[in-house]
Amino acid sequence: MLTSTKELLEVAQKHSYAVGAFNMYNLEGVKAVVKAAEAENSPAILQILPHVLDYGGSSLIAMFLEAANSAKVPMSVHLDHCDNNATIKTVLEAGVQSVLADGSTLPFQENLTFTREMTDIAHAKGATVEAEIGRISGTEDGMTVSEKEAKMTDPEQAKEFVAKSGVDFLAVTIGNVHGKYHGEPKLDFDRLAKIRQQVEIPLVLHGASGLPANMIHQSIELGVCKFNVNSEVRKKYLEFWREYGQTDSKTDLLDCQKAVTAEMEKIIAEKIRLFGSAGKA
Ligand code: 13P
Ligand code: ZN
Ligand code: NA
Repeated sequence: MLTSTKELLEVAQKHSYAVGAFNMYNLEGVKAVVKAAEAENSPAILQILPHVLDYGGSSLIAMFLEAANSAKVPMSVHLDHCDNNATIKTVLEAGVQSVLADGSTLPFQENLTFTREMTDIAHAKGATVEAEIGRISGTEDGMTVSEKEAKMTDPEQAKEFVAKSGVDFLAVTIGNVHGKYHGEPKLDFDRLAKIRQQVEIPLVLHGASGLPANMIHQSIELGVCKFNVNSEVRKKYLEFWREYGQTDSKTDLLDCQKAVTAEMEKIIAEKIRLFGSAGKA
């Protein structure tokens, strides 16, 4: 059933597990999330990126909402990484109940202004906002901040940002990366612990593809209750079609659609178990 992301994350935070938020592009992906969540009796979040929305339009949002609503487990629909006011307003109008107002490429004050404005709009509709801080650019105290360090979330800034923006969830940057980790992932758990001390709202970790189980568990212990997953599932989808494209024998497209859905479902179910949300619906 369609539930708000806020409700899903508040329950997760209270019971120390995390909910997977899966970026999806089409019906097969959406079905894979619903089937995995139902099979694991778990809540889940269907995520959509703005450029996917530009391609699919309002019928695609309607499909996401309908899938969440008819699921046997609580599910929400969330707009991921959006820096565009108009798109945020459009999806809120369409019934999406949470958005990532992503001002992370902006300087702190501009990010704060943008997030505050989007949060006011969302709250007026009973919706909620995730924000991201952590790309402190340039120099600090006259010293150049290394690129890696420059991207990390500062705990004190996080506190100020959350208090002044009124945002509902905070995406942190602690060494997590979108897509592949080059070498072993290195997450700054001391930083995450300090952020947790400063900020009470649910924390979000992007770039969950490629993170080992111990890091997932440690992140949850330190307050992460939403993990964003995209590339591992997307990779599986692409691998499937590449393999099927090699042979002429499989021509029933619907059979292929069902098979690719089942492949994605397996990975999503694994993530759900890893995040500790299995059995929590
Ligand atoms: P991955 O592609 O690393 O899973 O990251 C997904 C993400 O953060 C989407 O917002
Ligand atoms: Zn992300
Ligand atoms: Na990743």
